[in-house]
Amino acid sequence: MYPVVRVRKSRAEDVRKKLFEMRAVDGERRFVRDGEWVEIPIRVEKAEEAGKYGEIVEQKKPVFKERPPAPFEIIEKRMDIGEKKALLPRRWELFGDVLILKIPEQLEEHKLKIAETYADVLGAKTVLRDIGGIEGEYREPLVEFLLGEDAETVHIENGVRFRFDASKIMFSSGNIDERVRMAYLPSHNEIVVDMFAGIGYFSIPMAVHSRPKKIYACEKNPLSFRYLRENIILNGVEDIVEPLLGDNREACPENIADRVIMGYVGKTHIFLSKALSILKYRGTIHYHETCPEELLPDRPILRVKAATKDSGYRVIGTSIRKIKSYAPGIVHVVVDARVEKQN
Ligand SMILES: C[S@@+](CC[C@H](N)C(=O)[O-])C[C@H]1O[C@@H](n2cnc3c(N)ncnc32)[C@H](O)[C@@H]1O
Repeated sequence: MYPVVRVRKSRAEDVRKKLFEMRAVDGERRFVRDGEWVEIPIRVEKAEEAGKYGEIVEQKKPVFKERPPAPFEIIEKRMDIGEKKALLPRRWELFGDVLILKIPEQLEEHKLKIAETYADVLGAKTVLRDIGGIEGEYREPLVEFLLGEDAETVHIENGVRFRFDASKIMFSSGNIDERVRMAYLPSHNEIVVDMFAGIGYFSIPMAVHSRPKKIYACEKNPLSFRYLRENIILNGVEDIVEPLLGDNREACPENIADRVIMGYVGKTHIFLSKALSILKYRGTIHYHETCPEELLPDRPILRVKAATKDSGYRVIGTSIRKIKSYAPGIVHVVVDARVEKQN
């Protein structure tokens, strides 16, 4: 269905303004002149409402605006590599002006040309090749520089600015929904402890959007910690986020928090007893883990419950949500566990 408001040329400008204000104009189609008449394309759901400005008729010959080519279409056209074009990466990670690409081995000989072309089309200053995912306790990416030498960038997400070096520090685009969810959870009077703060993935959005009373953000990796401090200043949340350098088992204060964030995967459960000791009388723990599909939803929840045994706390409610697929058959999940001290 392609409805239009049909109006006389003399009225077209006035009606166009009104319809724009109503957000009724269909931006995909062009206005069409038909002698003394003008056809203004209207979105189907607004057709009835738009009828007050003229006759609504079905357009016989809709004229569509040209869609600008998608970046990949431009890249594909520019890469003169014959049949191997089919192997070009159709997805990428663009953090600020640093681009991360996965390039299959069969394209090894073309990797520099690929980097130049993608950088040009996507506006990147530096291109990194992802050669091995994310590794170790500090969750560091394994990458190779293909273009440029400087991978420090400022990535903006949900109104938050994250500065980091993308060649040394991970940023999981798959966790975006969780970063957004966490940003709006706490109330103004809450004290939050982020046990695995990184560069402020959860702490900074939370401080920017919810402005709780205090967030203690703990990070062990000195480089991530440096960016955490910079990001606190960059986002103007010095009054809320207090960065703590060190292992959370030593550096985090105890008996203090309404909410504890455990945004780390890799044996996170061994930190649960510490998380409980950080809580006040009652509170919420956001416990992350990577779990084989067949063990869901029980294993992560049972692990939280097991940690409360002999701790003086009991679990009074849990919910679990999937964050992303982590590896074939493995899912990254988060359990929100509400716990309280037993008398
Ligand atoms: C990279 S973040 C996880 C990413 C995050 N969930 C997201 O949304 O992208 C985990 C951080 O925990 C830090 N870390 C690991 N063990 C720690 C510990 N015992 N104490 C404090 N920080 C720790 C790592 O250095 C890393 O920066």
